Amino acid sequence: MSKEFQPNDVPVLHNYDGIQEYDNPLPGWWKWCFWISILFTPFYMMYFHSGAAGRSVDEQYQTSATENTRKQYAEIGDLAGDQETMTKFLKEPKWVGVGQSIFKANCVSCHAADGGGNVGPNLCDESFKHIKQLPDIIKVINEGVAGGAMPAWATRFSHKNDIILVSVYVASLRNSKPANPKAPDGSPIPAWPSE
Ligand code: HEC
Repeated sequence: MSKEFQPNDVPVLHNYDGIQEYDNPLPGWWKWCFWISILFTPFYMMYFHSGAAGRSVDEQYQTSATENTRKQYAEIGDLAGDQETMTKFLKEPKWVGVGQSIFKANCVSCHAADGGGNVGPNLCDESFKHIKQLPDIIKVINEGVAGGAMPAWATRFSHKNDIILVSVYVASLRNSKPANPKAPDGSPIPAWPSE
């Protein structure tokens, strides 16, 4: 008669509630995966994290995001910074949205995420310090004001359209309702022209 398995044949620690734990070796394929992934690591580190330009995932993302914007800009060409162009683009949500992402990336530290103002003035009300007409927005952003308290952005963007579209977005903020509006600065100006 073959000897039946007795729970007491294995050490107590490997037997829980009558369920026996075996101590089988790890499968060969598993060990191979383990060693191969360790061998792979230094090469991965060297390639992606060695500091070589353009290789990190972040840089690759930035490059393709810029390329994508370039392709979109091919659709509209080089914009003129005049009232007519701004009025036209104010009516195109897609391009106002591009302006918004430029604003979010560069301007929110001083003007707040919704334009309500922080160090910089509230851009959502009727009062402005340096602006009477639409193209004045482009001028202020390009050249800066107040001795650099509002920085000059002319050389900080890679494409001139960036400045024009962020200006269009700023113009679109007028009469919106920011969460914590800063008190008006400057004086009220006439509404933007509709044509
Ligand atoms: C370092 C802080 C800072 C950053 C960043 C900044 N601004 Fe300003 N901005 C200011 C200040 C301060 C003023 C007001 C200057 C003054 O009092 O004359 C201002 C003024 C302005 C004005 C004129 C408002 C008026 O009442 O005439 C516009 C438009 C403007 N900023 C847009 C932008 C945009 C768009 C960006 C991002 C590309 C930006 N700013 C980034 C600080 C900043």
